[in-house]
Amino acid sequence: MKKLLGCTLFTLGAINLGTIYGADAPSGQAVYQKRCAACHEQVSPRIPPRTALNNLTSARILRVMNSGAMMTIAYPLKRDEREAVAAFLGKAGAEPGPPASAYCKDRGVHIDTAASSWGSWSPGTSNTRFQPAGAARLSIDQVRGLKLKWAFAFDGDISSYSQPSVIGGQIFVGSASGLVHALHADTGCIQWTYQANAPVRTAISVAPVGRNHAVLFGDLNATFYAVEAETGKLLWKKKVDDHEAALITGAASVSNGVAYIPVASWEEARSIGPEYPCCTFRGSVVALRVNNGAQVWKTFTISETPHTTGKTSAGTARFAPSGAGLWGTPTIDLARKRLYVATGDNYSPPATANSDAILALDLATGRILWSKQATAGDAFNSGCMAGVDGPNCPENRGPDFDFGSSVIMIQTPQGRELLLAGQKSGMVHALDPDKNGEIVWQTRVAKGGVIGGVQWGMASDGQNVYAASSDAVFVTRNQVRVLDRDSGGGLTALRLTDGSKAWSVAPVSCAVDQIGCSPAQSAAVTAIPGAVFSGSMDGHLRAYSTEDGRVLFDFNTIRDYTAVNGVKARGGAMDGPGPVIVNGMVFVNSGYARFGGAPGNVLLAFAVE
Ligand code: HEC
Repeated sequence: MKKLLGCTLFTLGAINLGTIYGADAPSGQAVYQKRCAACHEQVSPRIPPRTALNNLTSARILRVMNSGAMMTIAYPLKRDEREAVAAFLGKAGAEPGPPASAYCKDRGVHIDTAASSWGSWSPGTSNTRFQPAGAARLSIDQVRGLKLKWAFAFDGDISSYSQPSVIGGQIFVGSASGLVHALHADTGCIQWTYQANAPVRTAISVAPVGRNHAVLFGDLNATFYAVEAETGKLLWKKKVDDHEAALITGAASVSNGVAYIPVASWEEARSIGPEYPCCTFRGSVVALRVNNGAQVWKTFTISETPHTTGKTSAGTARFAPSGAGLWGTPTIDLARKRLYVATGDNYSPPATANSDAILALDLATGRILWSKQATAGDAFNSGCMAGVDGPNCPENRGPDFDFGSSVIMIQTPQGRELLLAGQKSGMVHALDPDKNGEIVWQTRVAKGGVIGGVQWGMASDGQNVYAASSDAVFVTRNQVRVLDRDSGGGLTALRLTDGSKAWSVAPVSCAVDQIGCSPAQSAAVTAIPGAVFSGSMDGHLRAYSTEDGRVLFDFNTIRDYTAVNGVKARGGAMDGPGPVIVNGMVFVNSGYARFGGAPGNVLLAFAVE
């Protein structure tokens, strides 16, 4: 997943080596001369001149560097350098917001806790990504007849990767600009917006606080926020990890007034640079009280503090142990008072016991009760990816087989409880929660690889588990590395009882020979009774019959839309989050400008006419 994120996400987070090197406040003008002037002082019709940039707000320029068009150019810049150059170039003050017509006439937000909902990464904290019939209210025939009802566009963004949360008629959704929105599910009109400090790609969790509710989310700077659902006002925010590369991609799971937050990082991708001292980040779960943000516990996936382990061939210090980040929402088991997470790989050698593993933590204390490692010895970082291995690439590097998605807790038709985890290796693992994670069955659904196997998540309806395959492959075309239009993708249904294949469907090759098109299905999967939804990097949202995998519905999201909020709108590659289904409507993000995938900035809402 980090590759999923790695190659790409590395352009988003804050970069600040200050804590390691010590740093003076940078000069915005100096940064501009060094990093921007070559293009923006040159008069080319494709490049806005500096005088044009001077008309933008500093906030907007920062956003363009953090999550917009200048992402790949700005990624080597530390956070304070970005802030300095944005302040040097731009105007002070807030960005002009959406037009008045984008707002609802009635801007009141009412959370009906009795209403059907999908209020976090999954409708419940067992992370099945399954919406039962009563809440989905969508028959197979109705799936066939789904029509686009509205499109909402994220202004100036090139990716749409925050899965919406829906409670009755109420939507909450984040965005790459860091703007979090409360929207009306029927029409997509805006009730309020809240500006976070960094891109928000987590799904949003909703929990009661006093007589009102909190919307809870994390940003790509590892800050976690509680905003009042009814008003959009900040209740509290808290940095959950001090590491400069730490970030939050997985939504918090919430139980009994405590939010359990998974912490990951993009340090693995930082290690492309031979001068980067790799690596010091360790994954963790942080438990915070919903009402005030007070920390209940924090547990690192690696208990040992990183220390120097020598020097690389480039003379840069090496640190270990590191890695084992958490990309997915934790799974809560109230009966056993446990919380389950699945971890990523190590970034530097020696590898540790809890990487690429499923961990069970005590819900009350955070103590690790057991760990089941799927792949041992997996130390890997992006220093290994530049064609020629860089000095940070570990000797005996591992295969980079993270778990990127959440553990699913589910009962088989025979009533046996299982924990399911899909891995980038292409394997799906079923574990026994009563026997310290003993393996019940394991089945291969994909070839696996650095951006292969199961990426963002599977779904299970209690009969089968549905696993989509990424298996994306890069090829070089006209000296540019692009996604191979003939590799990756496919969807497999495995019987919960024994892991045998109920069916599997081959991917659909890209219809158009468009650069960056890929059949890879790395986005999270969603199930309702009778149908399973899976988005593809080729921009298509498809629904398959749970009986035999035949396609019931297929919509190509790569096109222009007239957005309800009056913003220029286009769909793109589908990756990251999956569809959210509530009360006969299907909400889905489109646009994922990573790995050369097609950019896009929309949230689409489908309904039966
Ligand atoms: C390699 C050339 C290049 C470099 C270097 C470069 N830019 Fe750009 N920049 C562009 C181009 C081309 C565009 C237009 C992108 C588009 O709209 O497709 C652009 C667009 C922008 C925009 C968006 C303007 C708008 O319409 O909203 C901002 C802001 C910006 N650049 C800031 C910067 C900053 C700050 C730096 C230095 C850190 C920088 N750029 C470095 C080529 C460059």
